[in-house]
Amino acid sequence: MVTGASSGIGKATALELARLGATVILVCRDRSKGESVIDEIRRKYSDVNVDLLLADLLSLDSVSAAANQYLEKYEHLHVLVNNAGAFFMKRRVTADGIESSFAVNYLSHFLLTNLLLDVLKQSAPARIVNMTGSHHSKATINFDDLQLERHYSGSHAIAHSKLAEILFTYELARRLEGTGVTANCLHPGVVATEFVDKAEDFPSAIKYIYRLAKPFMKSPLKGAETVIYLATSPEAEGVTGKYYVNKKAIESSPESYDTAVAESLWDVSLALTGLDTQ
Ligand SMILES: NC(=O)c1ccc[n+]([C@@H]2O[C@H](COP(=O)([O-])OP(=O)(O)OC[C@H]3O[C@@H](n4cnc5c(N)ncnc54)[C@H](OP(=O)(O)O)[C@@H]3O)[C@@H](O)[C@H]2O)c1
Repeated sequence: MVTGASSGIGKATALELARLGATVILVCRDRSKGESVIDEIRRKYSDVNVDLLLADLLSLDSVSAAANQYLEKYEHLHVLVNNAGAFFMKRRVTADGIESSFAVNYLSHFLLTNLLLDVLKQSAPARIVNMTGSHHSKATINFDDLQLERHYSGSHAIAHSKLAEILFTYELARRLEGTGVTANCLHPGVVATEFVDKAEDFPSAIKYIYRLAKPFMKSPLKGAETVIYLATSPEAEGVTGKYYVNKKAIESSPESYDTAVAESLWDVSLALTGLDTQ
């Protein structure tokens, strides 16, 4: 399963997993974009099973519905790639009252993963691969202002959400010890995708410069290499709780290793997603 499989690194990941013969489940918010990726996969790899789940990761109900649809239809899940992401220049809040970067880049993945944990454990060995970014090192988690009401900038919001994704990955790895399910995260490098083009309210001058710089960036397929490595390679078998760049485990920021912060974030996330009452 790959979230954000409609474009960029997620689409490249889905195509590559299909090339390797996996049954691929695309999680996309836009039906026509998802179906066009399915068509491309079927044209290239006619014998591969591919399916589409619709979910808007800005909505917790939509994420839960997609997880439930998966559980009704499938009995196994060997690889979950939490890749979807977005950038919001101005602070926006979802219908659930969550700051939008935190919702898409982290909390939706926290919810989806937790709803699929039992099937992942039953399918062990299984792997969870979380997309993050090197900018996480500029953030800290402030539980008094988790929704960034007092201090907001688009760059701070994405760094904050990506740090949350790393803390989540490491906490997940600790909680999954001995289950045969691993959890790792990665920074893909600077990759030429639609990410900046889609960013709402982003200054058009910077978008223009970004477009000029695209030929010098990694292709989406190159950007997906570490995802595919963590999801499929024999070398990554059993490796868990690590942060990767260019297929190598490296240190993430000091704050990302704070187990007290990770545990508190887990508890707050259970409450925000309503998982604490289930
Ligand atoms: N590109 C880079 O240099 C870079 C660097 C570091 C980290 N990353 C991370 O890599 C991941 C993939 O980004 P990308 O560069 O491949 O950009 P992209 O081409 O814009 O892909 C982002 C994907 O996330 C999906 N998405 C966004 N908001 C969503 C929502 N509310 N519900 C469901 N899906 C949603 C998008 O769907 P739509 O097609 O419908 O918009 C798209 O499939 C992100 O997490 C990003 O933060 C990228």
